[in-house]
Amino acid sequence: MGAACMLLAASHRTAQAEVLIRFSHVVADDTPKGQMALHFKTLVAQRSGGRIRVEVYPDSQLYGDDDEMEALRLGAVEMLAPSLSKFGTVGIPEFEVFDLPFLFRDLAQVRCVTRGSIGRKLLHRLSRQQMVGLGFLDNGFKQMSAGKPIQNVQDFKGLRLRVQASRVLAAQMRALGAYPLVLPFGETRRALAAGVVDGAENPVSNFLTQGLAPVQRAVTLTSHGYLGYAMVSNPRFWASLDAADRAMLTQALNDALDQGNRLSADMNQQALVTLRKDPGVQVHTLSPAQRDALRLAVQPAYDDFERRVGVSLLRQVQRDCAP
Ligand code: SIN
Repeated sequence: MGAACMLLAASHRTAQAEVLIRFSHVVADDTPKGQMALHFKTLVAQRSGGRIRVEVYPDSQLYGDDDEMEALRLGAVEMLAPSLSKFGTVGIPEFEVFDLPFLFRDLAQVRCVTRGSIGRKLLHRLSRQQMVGLGFLDNGFKQMSAGKPIQNVQDFKGLRLRVQASRVLAAQMRALGAYPLVLPFGETRRALAAGVVDGAENPVSNFLTQGLAPVQRAVTLTSHGYLGYAMVSNPRFWASLDAADRAMLTQALNDALDQGNRLSADMNQQALVTLRKDPGVQVHTLSPAQRDALRLAVQPAYDDFERRVGVSLLRQVQRDCAP
């Protein structure tokens, strides 16, 4: 066999190689991220004829907040979709712009950021920390929960509140007079049940599917902050793929993210309907004046962000994606 034929045969073998993608995440299947992951798995199985397999590990079964990024870097998993709040501690503090309280009024405003030049730049920055950024997914807006309604600034005073590992979220809680406690998502329910923390902030879909209702009697619909995800892969794995496989996976992922983004608002709406039927949980709302007072009180979180990350990113978000 001539050299050209051998090369052709080798490349054909590579194109036919079986591929396993381990996709680990920390939420339940029945959430926007869980559904997106399962849809991605189905699309990949269909489009590759079963040659490329996606194994989805939900609910921190394989890795949790503390070790999933390290697992990706070491090649123990091929894909993750950490919340945007979790990229600051791995060296990309720009992602914490999404955590700034009351910055986004609705998902349309968030999507202006994630689908435009700012989003593309942020995904590109992930390469600095040995990750390939493949896209964004919404969960939705976070609501406060505790043993009592949290509607006024003084309601926050002295509460120990679980936050993700984001300096913006910690600054937000401190500005409101609360004590932020960073805990992995998978340990939050136990900490709330044991009284180690008094409350938390979650979109309703995460609140319900983590079984937080029995341990948090009051949910206040503050919608004070956004929770979304970046889909990431290991660059060595991504580069090792055959070009046709990479193109197919990119398209399947884009389709799964589109579907997840279409579902996310409905899933949170549906979760709220379910929550309102739970006799053990009271759902509270904010008056415009209460909302304004909270918005004013969290200003130190903006000052802290600007000191650490600079003003240009926030200004660009405010200018290009005004409500
Ligand atoms: C997630 O939705 O992936 C978890 C968010 C959190 O840690 O609160």
